[in-house]
Amino acid sequence: MRIACIGAGYVGGPTMAVIADKCPEIEVTVVDSNAERIAAWNNGPLPVYEPGLEAVVARVRGRNLHFSTDVDGAIRDAGMIFISVNTPTKGYGEGAGCAADLRFVEGCARQIAKIATTDKIVVEKSTLPVRTAELILGILTAERRAGVNFQVLSNPEFLAEGTAIANLESPDRVLVGSDKTPEGLAAAEKLIGIYTHWIERDKIFTSNVWSSELAKLTANAFLAQRISSINAISALCESTKANVADVAAAIGADARIGSKFLRASVGFGGSCFRKDILSLAYLCENDGHIEAANYWRSVVEMNEWQKRRFVRRIVRAFSNSMFGKRIALFGFAFKKDTDDTRESAAIAVALQLLEEKAVVAIHDPKVSPEQIRRALREASGAPAEEWESRVICAANPASAVRDAHAIVILTDWGEYSAQVLDYAALLRTMNRPAFLFDGTALLDLAEMRALGFSSFGIGRE
Ligand code: NAD
Ligand code: UGA
Repeated sequence: MRIACIGAGYVGGPTMAVIADKCPEIEVTVVDSNAERIAAWNNGPLPVYEPGLEAVVARVRGRNLHFSTDVDGAIRDAGMIFISVNTPTKGYGEGAGCAADLRFVEGCARQIAKIATTDKIVVEKSTLPVRTAELILGILTAERRAGVNFQVLSNPEFLAEGTAIANLESPDRVLVGSDKTPEGLAAAEKLIGIYTHWIERDKIFTSNVWSSELAKLTANAFLAQRISSINAISALCESTKANVADVAAAIGADARIGSKFLRASVGFGGSCFRKDILSLAYLCENDGHIEAANYWRSVVEMNEWQKRRFVRRIVRAFSNSMFGKRIALFGFAFKKDTDDTRESAAIAVALQLLEEKAVVAIHDPKVSPEQIRRALREASGAPAEEWESRVICAANPASAVRDAHAIVILTDWGEYSAQVLDYAALLRTMNRPAFLFDGTALLDLAEMRALGFSSFGIGRE
């Protein structure tokens, strides 16, 4: 059996590496139009940082896992083709700023239709608006060669970055959506046959295509909604001297609520929560469910508010006078154990501090200075010459902190914990008063105060 995956990104690469690892008899080819990315997958360093990924790739690359830019060749040879391309928020025209931009997915469908000379099972791995399979099938059937048949399955991915390999090797569930026709069910069985190499059958859920597509958007919306809910409570904790971690522990012990995803923070980041909620809200609105759309949008609004609120806290501590102050930012990735900075709260915080005319000295153990500068440039509305000279990319936490007025923790990397970093030594190199703002619940604020920091956290004293 040969399978192909179009899109060698954070999902396509790790997902196919694990499939190749678990299914030695399946030939897996991952293709991408980005030649640089493919070269990195072939020769390293890998284009995606994920704990455990290197070891998996080392075992299977060249054995039954191949990376290539030959999209047509991979389509021609494979019986099953995963579409794992990016589905960003549309930036133009109808639905700009909320609907999903499906041009990359559509491009794949057109290419598959044009190239395929044998029957194919096309698997939606990307996160897509409900009923996208209709669009894909419409293109495939309109443009196909005579005698070639297609089945479209939905098989959304639930991995989280930083834990992708563990999530792929031991998922909570796998979801396969298919047509309920004999051909659709047979296609679903083929896909299920891949996963049962290492996943128990009772963890593999089946449904129609639409439920599967919608379940993925809904899962992300629910996860993000929990974060926004606890972040809303964190504001009240700060004004009432309640402690958000204690509140979270107390409610999380209720089995009906559950303890996960209740960590108050400076705000969720990552490439998907925001775009998927906005996409869901757009779908609701399009179908006339305005209140439902507004409900989901408020989850994103709360997240934006939380980031602004955190920066306001910092600015207030400086009595609104941050001009020329050096602020050390610890962490730029959107969470620990990834080099991904898409939608990272650190971007918004850094840009707002730069607007206040501060100097920001940024350190991240995995994000390169080029990537930090690129992310800031892409997100900033202001001309680069107004702020770029006030961005310093530091080689280590100590050099970020030297002569700084504050440390701001934005990613919960273990490297920044008090067990690893000597905060007393850092403090000695700082201006006084020395501030510490923890946006991640990494540090014990009382401990930091005992060292001499003026310290602030989210939802706690
Ligand atoms: P990504 O941007 O890292 O990778 C997508 C890749 O697709 C890029 O390398 C791009 O060059 C390639 N591509 C786009 N169009 C192409 C075409 N026509 N032919 C060949 N290559 C093409 O994106 P990602 O983070 O891997 O996400 C992919 C999808 O998976 C998205 O829909 C996302 O919502 C979903 N998802 C992401 C995650 C995650 O943690 N990143 C988790 C679950 C689901
Ligand atoms: C998320 C989902 O967890 C995955 O199931 C999903 O597949 C993926 O989105 C996707 O579709 O892309 P990811 O964004 O990689 O995964 O990482 P998360 O662990 O969900 O963290 C997202 C953000 O929320 C991070 O900024 C994290 O710091 C923040 N977060 C998470 C909190 O602020 N509090 C929490 O309690 C949990």
